[in-house]
Order: sequence, then C-alpha cells, then structure tokens
Amino acid sequence: MSAAKILVVEDELIVATTIANKLSRIGYIVTAKVTSGSQAIAKAIETKPDLILMDIFLKGEIDGITAAAQIRQQLNIPVIYLTAYADHNTLERAKLTKPLAYIIKPFNEIELQVAIELALYQNKLERSLQESQEQLETILESINDGVIATDRQGLINFINPTAEKLTGCSQSEAVGKKVTDIFQIFDEVTGTGRENPVAQVLETEQVVDLEDYKILISKQQSQIPICYSASPLKQKSGEICGAVVVFWDISEHRQTKILEDALVKEQEISRFRAQFTSLVSHEFRNPLSAILTAAELLDRYGDVATEVQKKTYLQRIKSSVGRMNQLMEDLLLLGQAETGKLEFDPVPLELEQFCRELIEELSQTGEGFNQITLTSFGDCTNAVMDTRLLHYILANLLSNAIKYSPANEKIEFNLTCDHQQQVAIFQIQDQGIGISEPDQTQVFQLFYRGNNVKKIQGTGLGLAIVKRCVERHQGEISLSSKPGVGTKFTVQLPLFPRRIVHY
Ligand SMILES: Nc1ncnc2c1ncn2[C@@H]1O[C@H](COP(=O)(O)OP(=O)(O)OP(=O)(O)O)[C@@H](O)[C@H]1O
Ligand SMILES: [Mg+2]
Repeated sequence: MSAAKILVVEDELIVATTIANKLSRIGYIVTAKVTSGSQAIAKAIETKPDLILMDIFLKGEIDGITAAAQIRQQLNIPVIYLTAYADHNTLERAKLTKPLAYIIKPFNEIELQVAIELALYQNKLERSLQESQEQLETILESINDGVIATDRQGLINFINPTAEKLTGCSQSEAVGKKVTDIFQIFDEVTGTGRENPVAQVLETEQVVDLEDYKILISKQQSQIPICYSASPLKQKSGEICGAVVVFWDISEHRQTKILEDALVKEQEISRFRAQFTSLVSHEFRNPLSAILTAAELLDRYGDVATEVQKKTYLQRIKSSVGRMNQLMEDLLLLGQAETGKLEFDPVPLELEQFCRELIEELSQTGEGFNQITLTSFGDCTNAVMDTRLLHYILANLLSNAIKYSPANEKIEFNLTCDHQQQVAIFQIQDQGIGISEPDQTQVFQLFYRGNNVKKIQGTGLGLAIVKRCVERHQGEISLSSKPGVGTKFTVQLPLFPRRIVHY
C-alpha cells in the first residue's frame, strides 16, 4: 500500500516543522506545510492529499474550521483538527465540518499515528459505503420498474423515478407519506379496491406476488394496468424493517394480449362454424335419407310387405325423426348457451319420480331400460330445478353410459339428496369401455369425441352442452374413469336455486 499523503496546516512554523518531521519519520508523505487558511485551500487543491492536519486557530481571515469546511465541500478531503484548547462554540462549529478526529496539543508520535490511521481507515470505509450506496441508487434510478420502499409502519422512505412517473407523485411529495396514499390499486374486473400489497407484506411478513394485473390510479387519476411484487425488507438479524414494492406498466403488453385474444377468438369462431356446418349437414342427411328410403320401400312394396317388414320401416322412420329431434334440441340449447341466453326456469319437482320417468322414457326409445338401476338416498321428494335442462343432463349421461357399454351391462344410477347441504348428487356409473386419461380432460369440449368411440355414432356435442346446463344451475360435474373398467359421472346441483342468476 502506498504511503498516505498529508497536508499540514499550522500557523506556528516551528510546530509545523516538528509535525512534518514526525510524519515523515512514521512514513507518511507531507505534501506541504502551510500557515494560513487560504494557503491550506490552495495547497489542498494543488496537492490533493489523502488527509489534512488542520490547526483550528489560524492567523488571517480564514480560520481552520472555515478552510476545512470549504475543502470538504470542494474536494471531500477528510480533516483532523489540531488544537491546544477549544471553547464550546468553536467545537460545535468544528463538528459541522465532520472532522475525523481531534488531536489535543501537545501530542506524541504514537498518538498522532493512531489518530491518522483510524481517520484514514474510517474515511476509506465511508467512501466505499458511499460508493455502494451511489451504485445502488443509480441502479434503482435507471431501472424501468417502479420501486417504492417503506419503513415498518408503511411510511415511504424511497421512491425511484419510474415510480414517481407511474404514481404521478414526486419524491419530495412521496417520502414520509403512507404508501397507501400514493399507491392505490384496484381490480378492473370486480371494480373493487385491493388490499395494499405493502400492508399485506408488513402484516404477513411474506412475499406477495400478483397472479393477475391490477389498475394503479395515479395522482392525476389516470388508470395504468400494472403487475407488482412486494417483499419484506429484513435486517441481518431477520427482523423486518420495512417493505419494498416493485411494479411495472403492462399497458403495451395488455394491448397485444387483447389483440391476440381477439384473434384466437376469431379463429375459434371460424373453426366452430366449419365444424358446425359439416356436422349439421352430415347429421341431418343421415336420418333424412333413412326416412326417404323407408318411405320409398313402403310406397313401392307396401302392398306385398309383411306386417313385420312394415313395422320395421315405420320404426326406422320413427327413430330417424327422433334422432333429428334430438339434434334440433342440441343445437337449440347450444345456440342459447353460446349467446349467453340459455333459458333457466326452475320449477318445483319430485326428483326421484322425475328420474324414474326418465328411465322409463329411455326404455320407450329402446335405450337399455333393463340395465339401469336407480337407488335414491335421503328425501328426494322435492327440489326446484329447470326440468328441461335437468332432463338434458341426465338423458345424455345415461345414454352415453348405455352407448359406451356392452349390451345389457349394468348401469348404476344413484341419487342422493342432502337437505343440510342443499344439494342433489346424481351419480351414473357404467361398466363400459372407459375413457383414457388424456381424453378425460377434453370430453367436455365442443365436438370432442374420444379415441375410445371407434365406430360408435355421435357428434361430440352431448357433454359440452351438459356442462353448460350444469353451470346454468350453478352446479358441478366431474368424472372418474378407467379404460376397460368403466366410467362414473357425478353431477352436483343445488336442490333449490341459490340466487337468481342473470346469464
Ligand atoms: N360413459 C362413457 N364411457 C366412455 N366414454 C364416454 C362416456 N361418456 C362420454 N364418453 C366419451 O366422451 C366423448 C364425448 O361425449 P359426448 O356425449 O359429448 O359426445 P358423443 O357421445 O360422442 O356424441 P353425442 O353428441 O351424440 O352425445 C365421447 O365421444 C366418448 O369418447
Ligand atoms: Mg353423448
């Protein structure tokens, strides 16, 4: 390490020379020895010492304290005062210039060396602290994110320029204010104010990360979409001494997202249109041509056909009309659901009776009457539901169970009414082909047909509409399934409408 350079300021030349000799003996470099305040300033500028030994009382207009103050201000060179005595006022004045030490005359070489070494060390520490502080401030000031730091009480002690810009509050306005005064956020969707993240961090001592964006209201009342993250500031001991919130403007990102979403929606709509058109033409054409063929056969061979043959043709016409009817109902419900106009007209009904009648009805259409066993638990005599939607839900789950099971395999239909929880639980369990795990997450999508269906006929509309009907009831639907073992669908509906839902 190179020897420290010291400037000696002492109006008694003999004393100055003695000090300079002592310093040289110890190993320091004396850059100059001067006798007045004005010379001290000039030599400090010229020789740039690491330290100045300054006598307080100097002859001339500028005393040691004034000279030291000017040097500190201009050059930031530390000072040690040399003095034989000092009155209270002088010492108070001297303190303002932040000297690193006072040495009382007379002093010996050891005292001088200790004072100088301590002063140099302290100055080095102060400098590196100041440097890292400046570095930190430069970083915080130049980043594009807003940063606000508070103390333990949530009072602001730091705000960077980006935060000033976003909140519309200058540093001088913000510092000392409650963070809630300038960092006001609310939820755009619900329109409600949100608990301030800093208050939350100070209370829970945990990091608060935002999953979704929120709106920041600036001082000028402009609304800025932001994301933020808030963290506790901890001392080395682990004690919380404040909080910091970092936030950034996402207007641009959001604009892009809105456009992207619109594009995705548009693509979805055109895909939906294409699928819809092909499905409708295909699904209507099949039963229509079956009806036409059966009618032609009756027309041509009606006179000679046997009674059994005639019945078969008529049955074909009936079931084709039934199929078309079903398709019309699907499309009608889907159209209503997609435009948010799915009618919901809850009426009192005898639930168990309703389920029995439904099974009976399915048997009329030839759909597996014998296989379905209905068991009910609890009092299922009264409920208030939309019978059209309920019919659609249960008829589809039951006909899927029948369709995707071997003929005459058993289907369990359990109905539980829990009046305490005010829910009805419908469980339909088959022992059919089952649904693979990847398919299980997709079966509620429009037009989706699993890999398990092979040649079994269908449109992929049933479950998608069932889900919308369940949601319209404010209910839930779930399934569990194992390929080759079977499938269980569970639907939970409120026994009575929870509240009027505007859809
Ligand atoms: N009980 C079940 N067992 C096995 N697979 C099922 C069952 N229920 C539904 N699936 C699977 O879910 C898919 C979607 O069912 P969904 O009822 O929506 O359509 P679909 O039965 O194919 O046609 P449709 O619109 O005529 O009902 C089916 O294609 C099938 O892969
Ligand atoms: Mg189906």
